[in-house]
Amino acid sequence: MQTSWIPFVPESASTVSGKVDALYFYLSGVTAFFTLLISGVLIFFVIKYRRRMPNEIPRPVAGSHKLETIWSVIPFMIAMSMFAWGAQIYFQNSRPPKNANEIYVVGKQWMWKIQHSTGQREINELHVPVGRKIKLIMTSEDTIHDFFIPAFRIKADVLPGRYTTQWFEATKPGSYHLFCAEYCGMNHSGMIGSVIVMQPTDFDNWLSGNASQQSPAVAGQQLFQSLGCVSCHGANGEGGRGPALAGLFGQKVFLTNNQTVTADEAYIRESIENPQAKIVSGFNPIMPTFQGQVTPEQLIQIISFIKSLQISNPQSATAPAVPAPKAAPSTPANTTSAPNQQ
Ligand code: CUA
Repeated sequence: MQTSWIPFVPESASTVSGKVDALYFYLSGVTAFFTLLISGVLIFFVIKYRRRMPNEIPRPVAGSHKLETIWSVIPFMIAMSMFAWGAQIYFQNSRPPKNANEIYVVGKQWMWKIQHSTGQREINELHVPVGRKIKLIMTSEDTIHDFFIPAFRIKADVLPGRYTTQWFEATKPGSYHLFCAEYCGMNHSGMIGSVIVMQPTDFDNWLSGNASQQSPAVAGQQLFQSLGCVSCHGANGEGGRGPALAGLFGQKVFLTNNQTVTADEAYIRESIENPQAKIVSGFNPIMPTFQGQVTPEQLIQIISFIKSLQISNPQSATAPAVPAPKAAPSTPANTTSAPNQQ
């Protein structure tokens, strides 16, 4: 949908921006239509049914089920069309495609720190290639920020202690505004930057011109060594005291409380900062907390290192041991082992 000729919408430069605009125009159109219809009918009735004689008594009016059904069902259908259309765009927008390039974003008062998976860092600028899917993995070092690119029609809160994501595919080379859209203190209004969309070849040149930095995964590996994680979490479980981490990312993990959890960014962060919160089945709660010892950026590095760990031997690497929590409680073998836990 071509909308750039209407001055009150920002430039349209991503694959979803046209869809968001179409829905927005539909909402505005429906609103304008009913505003005009209702005020028009109101004025018409005021004139038509005005009192003409001083002692005029109006005819009694009986209700009409037919009319009431019509004016309930039609608005209901219109409301549901807004819901269905909006939900469809929402789901598309909130589910990053699997093959997207990942870029890490850390918000802090008052700047955006960005790191590409190949290691390049930038501040208040985000360089991306046109026509490629980009997934942003975002967190904050202090308060709540919000990463907003109007031309792409994407916007998401950036929270301390959590990872939020959003994705886009830019459709036009150019430079676009980047805003913080959540009041975050004195210089909130200055927490701005630009998104620079480049042709893929220009982008590759830009990347290679800035290639001197370490990738987050490599930095994470060094942290993994220096913080001593490796002594318990050997790459293939050889540490023995902690679950193996190879191939873990994205998998379901069985916990001692018989629940399962998906090993995503939030789970790994929690397991580093608050290791007792979710204990993997078959392991003891012996890991110390690393809260305060790793910065949000270092957490991202460790997470991207863990993501990069591939399973070397698919047979042996179903990582955390899989118990049989459902069948176990009724078997005699388990009842004998139960007293140990009490
Ligand atoms: Cu960051 Cu407002």
